[in-house]
Amino acid sequence: MATVLVLNGPNLNLLGTREPGIYGVQTLADVERMCKDTAGEFGLELDFRQSNHEGELIDWIQEAGLAVSAGGYIGVVLNPGALTHTSLALHDAITGAQVPVVEVHISNVHAREEFRRHSFISPVAAGIVVGFGVTGYVLAIRGLYEITRSSRGDAASA
Ligand code: DQA
Repeated sequence: MATVLVLNGPNLNLLGTREPGIYGVQTLADVERMCKDTAGEFGLELDFRQSNHEGELIDWIQEAGLAVSAGGYIGVVLNPGALTHTSLALHDAITGAQVPVVEVHISNVHAREEFRRHSFISPVAAGIVVGFGVTGYVLAIRGLYEITRSSRGDAASA
């Protein structure tokens, strides 16, 4: 069975208690359950991870590139947290690994501070989901599934 990798960057382990007015009250474990249900609807396995460390996220993206080439993984749903706005290294990891990535942000980063408007990830993302709360993860899995169908030889959906 094909697998979707969902990666979460720094501070997303604090979901539920971190600025609930911005990020909501659902925990990362709640998000993982939602993602598992959504993946299951598309006949996918879920591999769900979080790290506060840039290098670990880079290692996982590189591994995902190999796993996508081998045919086991369909790509990555990535919420890079604050690394979105700072990490050329994550940008380079995505291009280097040639892995399809859908970038997700729980909050609408464009309606917040100016420094959140720039993303190092967006130029190398296959798609972007912003501002739908944690439902964005569900939308991103669906989007990744749809845009990678042809490379798996599946028929396009109606
Ligand atoms: C975030 C937005 C980022 O600006 C912030 O640093 C985060 C979370 C979001 O999901 O809305 O950690 O990626």
